[in-house]
Amino acid sequence: GTGLPTADNTHEVAQHTAPDARVVYVDNDPIVLEHARSLLTSAPEGATEYVEADARDPELILRTAGRTLDLRRPVAVMMLGILNFVLDTDEARGIVTKLMEALPSGSHLVLTHPTTELGGEGNEAAMRFWNENATPPITARSRTEFASFLDGLDVLEPGIVSCSRWRAGSHGPAPEVAQFGAVGRKP
Ligand SMILES: C[S@@+](CC[C@H](N)C(=O)[O-])C[C@H]1O[C@@H](n2cnc3c(N)ncnc32)[C@H](O)[C@@H]1O
Repeated sequence: GTGLPTADNTHEVAQHTAPDARVVYVDNDPIVLEHARSLLTSAPEGATEYVEADARDPELILRTAGRTLDLRRPVAVMMLGILNFVLDTDEARGIVTKLMEALPSGSHLVLTHPTTELGGEGNEAAMRFWNENATPPITARSRTEFASFLDGLDVLEPGIVSCSRWRAGSHGPAPEVAQFGAVGRKP
């Protein structure tokens, strides 16, 4: 769920710390594809690749990503604002399970997901507005449903929190946003 390229794209942040970082973006929106070349500005020591694929096809994603990433070594899977487009929770859990099962110990799963358990009625109204006026439709999930995506993983501190409060560091204390965020490590 790449989203439109912006400042500090994932590969830029990663390669700022580790110039040899290798990053594969995945999205199914043709508009994002149009902008993909802005994502392919890797540091020479590393690599970035863009895959046009649906999150519902984890086998294709793994097969294609495996051309750029060494999937025998730990991988960080970032699913930020994407599982909310997979409306069936069992299907969403199945996608996460397939991706994480294919990756070795030490791999990480980074998740953010909208919820109506934070942000109250304002967030419910915002999500309703989206579903009445935009596509694809979106769903919120409870803390219990969100936690189920992390089953079998060791959830890093500070656990499941409003994503603006996940290690806010010198930026904290951050206002709460209506999205859960968490990072899990495969044991
Ligand atoms: C809300 S944006 C999130 C962007 C970015 N990850 C972030 O957190 O800022 C969701 C992205 O997921 C993509 N997306 C939605 N449904 C998808 C699907 N079924 N498969 C792949 N990408 C999808 C959209 O095209 C969009 O670029």
